[in-house]
Order: sequence, then structure tokens, then C-alpha cells
Amino acid sequence: MPARGLILGIESSCDETAAAVVERGSRTLSSVVASQIATHARYGGVVPELASREHLRAIVPVVRAALAQANVTLADLDAIAVTSGPGLAGALLVGITYAKALAFAQNLPLIAVNHLEGHIHAVLLNERESAPVAESSLRASNESPQGTGRSPSDSPDAQSPALALVVSGGHTHLYLARPANGSWTYTLIGRTLDDAAGEAFDKVAKLLGLGYPGGPWIDSLALHGNPHAVPFSFSQIKPKLHLAGQPPRTKAARTAPIANLDPRFLFSFSGIKTAVLRYVQLHNLRPEAESRRDALFTGPAARLFAPKNACHPERSAAESKDLRLPLVPPPTQADALALCSPQTLDLIASFQHAVVGDLMKKTFAAAESLAVRRILITGGVAANRELRLRFTAEAARRNLRVSFPTLALSTDNAAMIAAAAWPKLQSHDFASPSLSASPSLALGI
Ligand code: KG4
Ligand code: ZN
Repeated sequence: MPARGLILGIESSCDETAAAVVERGSRTLSSVVASQIATHARYGGVVPELASREHLRAIVPVVRAALAQANVTLADLDAIAVTSGPGLAGALLVGITYAKALAFAQNLPLIAVNHLEGHIHAVLLNERESAPVAESSLRASNESPQGTGRSPSDSPDAQSPALALVVSGGHTHLYLARPANGSWTYTLIGRTLDDAAGEAFDKVAKLLGLGYPGGPWIDSLALHGNPHAVPFSFSQIKPKLHLAGQPPRTKAARTAPIANLDPRFLFSFSGIKTAVLRYVQLHNLRPEAESRRDALFTGPAARLFAPKNACHPERSAAESKDLRLPLVPPPTQADALALCSPQTLDLIASFQHAVVGDLMKKTFAAAESLAVRRILITGGVAANRELRLRFTAEAARRNLRVSFPTLALSTDNAAMIAAAAWPKLQSHDFASPSLSASPSLALGI
């Protein structure tokens, strides 16, 4: 049985290269994330080839930084965990190849983790970290965390079934997560038929001349608009039932079949994106959006900025000198606010309000139908302020418990991968040396 239960997690499924060291799935010793936002921002979305190249550049320094921050060496580790899918094939392969090489060289077990399971474990990790139980009380009760598969701080509540909403740039999936012999099993309850919710945030932000990724821009600008100004109705985001049983058409929908899912728990976000586009055309908001994009990012007046080198901050200055870029901070959401008309702010607030409302309606309906008392919300969109406030208020009204990861663990990171790997280390659920990328890997049954 592992001495310290130290797992090095590696995540490279999309546009973040991340590494973390987590002890027994319940104590984060380090979590390092090198974001590629600056690389992809100018294209308004992730460019797969660039993502692979950036992962290649970042993986070694990011892993080194994670080990150094945790104050451990490779020799202290008990296992290496890596995201095996879903995600971009080339991006996944960088993390997998590096993890395999490290595991082979150090003679350590290799653990493959599904990225979606990782997001669910981000919440569980936070719960364990925020409700620690003294090691001494464990010793007194003679209960071994290794033996039971439970971390020192798992409360009985943390061991109850939960409805998990994974809501990110690639997914909007509802799972019933059940603890089983120290591990977890997952049953798919609902998912999007087309775009993921985060994808809708990103596309609407792009349409309105805002930054990438769009979620944080919309989140912050929505505070200044009237969420009831544009009446987007749920009928605009109702699932296309004629597609039930058909093969999913988009990247977000590809990871799970829908044939047996209850239509009440299916999402669709491409309709509201089109409704926003129509509103922009009808109300002549496109010139404003274009001049905003020019002013912030593309036009001659846009401030050039030097992207920070996340792995080597000291290099940023040197790199910017090479490129003759002035060292000024990138445009902010406050800059964008000054360039938004009240009508645009109302549109942004109404869009966000409708998306959050739809996520709530279906999630709470599923919780009621499954009679679960506990909801976990995770993935990049779980960082959204309105979403957190409204889910928390509605859960309190229904006497349910709702949990979110910290903001740092909401978006992609490797601590969640290392945490999800802990039960697998205990049950010796190891990957074979021939592990490869599974871009469309599904979770659950
Ligand atoms: O989990 P994540 O980092 O990567 C994926 O697995 O996709 O999620 C990224 C997504 C992006 O679509 C981004 O726009 C969205 O999460 N996002 C947000 C917020 N922060 C990030 N969406 C709404 N509000 C936010 N505050
Ligand atoms: Zn993710």
C-alpha cells in the first residue's frame, strides 16, 4: 500500500497544460496550470495544432514546477495519473506520452483518468480539504484510509449519491455519481444535444466582440445589464427531440448516446446562440460589436500586450523585447464595459440569465426525479457568479445541498486528475503501457 499516497496528476486535454501533486486524494500539495489563452485568443477559439505545440513546450517545466512547489521528488511519488480523454487527440497525446515515460522510468503505476470524472472529483477534493478530520481520530478508530478507500475527511454525507452537472466548454452532462466500495460509479442522466453551455458563452462573446474564453467576459458584463430585458424563452433552448436516437453531431454531444435518456434532462444551446445573433442583426448591434473588437483586440488602436509566459514569468519581458511588444496588460472586462451600449449589456445579461435558468430547471428536475439530496456543479461554467448564486438559493429553497469547486478548480487543472486517481490507486486499477488518447471517451453507463 502506498506510503504517502502521493499522486502526480497531468492534464493536457484542451488548452491548459497542468500538473499537480495530491496526497491521498484529499490534500493538494501543488497545482500548476499553464494557460494557452494568449495563444488562442486571437483566433477566438482553441486551434488544435497550436494547442499540441504549446503543451509540448510547457509540459516539462509545468511538471517540474508542480514537484518543486509540493516539495517532493519523483522518487517520493506513488503513482502518475494522466487524462486519457475526452479531449483533443494531439493535446491528450502530449500528456499521455510524458506520463508514460515518467511512469516507466520511475517504475511507478500509471493511472488513466477520464477528464469528466476529474471535474467531478474537483468538488469532492474541495469538500475533503475544507472538512478535515484529524489524523489522530482516525488512528484512534483504527480506520485505515487506504483500507477503506476513504480519505481521512470523507463525511458520511460526502459518501452519499450525488447528481453531478459537468458544465464546461466541451460538456454539459448530468451524471448520477454513486460511491461504490471506495470508488465511484457514474450513470449518464442527461446531456446537450449540440453545443455545450461554455461553448455558447464563447460563441456569443465572440459575436459581440468580446475576449476569449467568453465566459468570464459575459459573467462580468452581465452584472451591468437587465437580465429580463430580452425575453429568451426556454422554448428557444428546448432539445431537438427529433434527434433522439441519432448519432450526436457536435463535439460536445459526441461523448455519450442519448437513446435512453429522459428528454426532460437533455440540453440544447445552439438555439439561444442563434437567437442572440438574430437580436444583434435586428437591433443593428453588429457595428458596435465590430468597433469593440477593433478597439480591444484587432484594430490599430488595440493595445498590444505581451502574453505572460506561465512557466517562466521571467522570460516574458525578454520575449516581448524580441517581438518589440510593449509590456502592457491585456484588455480587461472594465475596458469592454466602457465600449458596451446599455442595449448590449441587457442582451448579455438576458443571455446569461436564460442559460443559467435552463441549467437550473433541468438539474433540479433530475435531482427531484432521482431523489438525490446533493448536487455537485463543476467545469469552467461553474465559475459563473449568477449560476452559483441562483443554484445556491434554489437548493436552499428545496433543502438540497449544492457544492462547487473553488474558482481555481472549476476550470481545467491537474489536481482533479490526481484526486480522481486515488481510488484507482487503491484498487490497483492501472493503465496498460499501451495507453493512448481517447478523444471521445465517455463516462458512465
Ligand atoms: O472546464 P474548462 O476549463 O475546459 C473544458 O473542459 O472545456 O471550461 C472552459 C469553459 C469555457 O467555455 C469558458 O468560457 C467557460 O468555461 N467559463 C465560464 C466562466 N469561466 C469559464 N463560463 C461562464 N462564466 C464564467 N465565469
Ligand atoms: Zn474541462
